[in-house]
Amino acid sequence: MRIVLGVGGGIAAYKAAELTRLLQQSGHQVQVVMTDAAREFIQPLTFAALTGRKVITSLFSHESSDATLSSAVEHIAVAQEHDLLVVAPATADLLAKLAIGRADDFLSTLYLAFTGTVVLAPAMNTAMWTHPATQANLETLSRRGCEIVDPDDGWLACGTVGAGRLADPARIAERINSLGKTRRDFEGETFLVTAGPTQEALDPVRYISNRSSGKMGYTIAETAAKRGAKVVLVSGPVNIPAPRNVELIPVKTAHEMRQAVMEQLTDATIIVKCAAVADYYVANVSPQKLKKTAARLSLELDPTPDILAEVGQKKADRILVGFAAETQNLLEESRRKLLSKNCDMLVGNLVNQEGAGFESDQNDVEIVTRSGRTVHAGPASKYEIAERILDEIAMLRLSIRGMDRIA
Ligand SMILES: Cc1cc2nc3c(=O)[nH]c(=O)nc-3n(C[C@H](O)[C@H](O)[C@H](O)COP(=O)(O)O)c2cc1C
Repeated sequence: MRIVLGVGGGIAAYKAAELTRLLQQSGHQVQVVMTDAAREFIQPLTFAALTGRKVITSLFSHESSDATLSSAVEHIAVAQEHDLLVVAPATADLLAKLAIGRADDFLSTLYLAFTGTVVLAPAMNTAMWTHPATQANLETLSRRGCEIVDPDDGWLACGTVGAGRLADPARIAERINSLGKTRRDFEGETFLVTAGPTQEALDPVRYISNRSSGKMGYTIAETAAKRGAKVVLVSGPVNIPAPRNVELIPVKTAHEMRQAVMEQLTDATIIVKCAAVADYYVANVSPQKLKKTAARLSLELDPTPDILAEVGQKKADRILVGFAAETQNLLEESRRKLLSKNCDMLVGNLVNQEGAGFESDQNDVEIVTRSGRTVHAGPASKYEIAERILDEIAMLRLSIRGMDRIA
């Protein structure tokens, strides 16, 4: 690949030199862009010597870094002629600039003009990293399709120990290499993905729901789209934006979710039921807002339709993947649900463990299949888990449909 390496102004800027070497050793061509602040930490000469190319340091430089560039407007030409942009270290300031779309230097202007894959490897002090502003910027960039290589925990230059140290350059290079291999192996498939919680009304202003954030389902939908599939996402109410290239059908209740799923079933070839659908709905919904009194209030709950079981009955040759959120006996419960709902694959996760399940950006899952295969994946980011689940679906598809259906 032709890679642009953007270097931000942080202590870890020196590690970008090692990353340059590793990328070159993997066979990539590297063009380095440095911000003004980056040059306070490391000289352009280091990168020029490593790459044999002039380092780009200014939006308004008068001589081009490369005489063969297609456009006289250098940031446009660099954007057009490279496959991947990696920013390492991505400082808090750079993340903020990229998230709001500022374009006041070469790197930020290039980011806006760039249509290829963007990888961000943040590095900063722990307080800066955990600050809600930084996390919100990352969330924005991640939802916009940027690949984030999370920082490591460890000793930081400011003398503290915590999260924020630039990921090991070997890990960044590995991630880039795996992205280069992104296959469009689901081209021709139509995914029907469900995500998020459902809300079951008690009265006109209150509802019963659960803690599902929708992140796992949204990440699966996004990953399937990146791997070439047409994707329909039926989602309960969540606070995250719809992924790109995905058709979103918003619903609120379990009954609405059932209806949307059944309507979309005909066209679907692969169904991933990741939503945390309420098991019960309130039978005696009050038409008026319930008043608080001193007396005990009882709700009558009726079971909601079992969408997974119904899809299992009607699935024909479609591939059906269910999810089980459990708090104990994960493997047993996952296998039981796999068979009882007629799924081809069941992804079980323990939702009561630290750093996994609902609301978390991480997950840790057991994948069980009808053929008896059991795979543990995680703890890892929901992006890595989504890739792994799709890899397993691809294997399953191979065994179910045979080679002739595989592109
Ligand atoms: C000694 C020193 C070390 C710094 N290290 C970091 C760092 O590791 N991460 C970070 O986000 N900012 C760090 N900063 C702050 C950035 O340099 C500053 O926010 C700068 O504007 C970032 O510029 P950029 O957007 O070109 O990266 C550091 C500043 C100093 C003076």
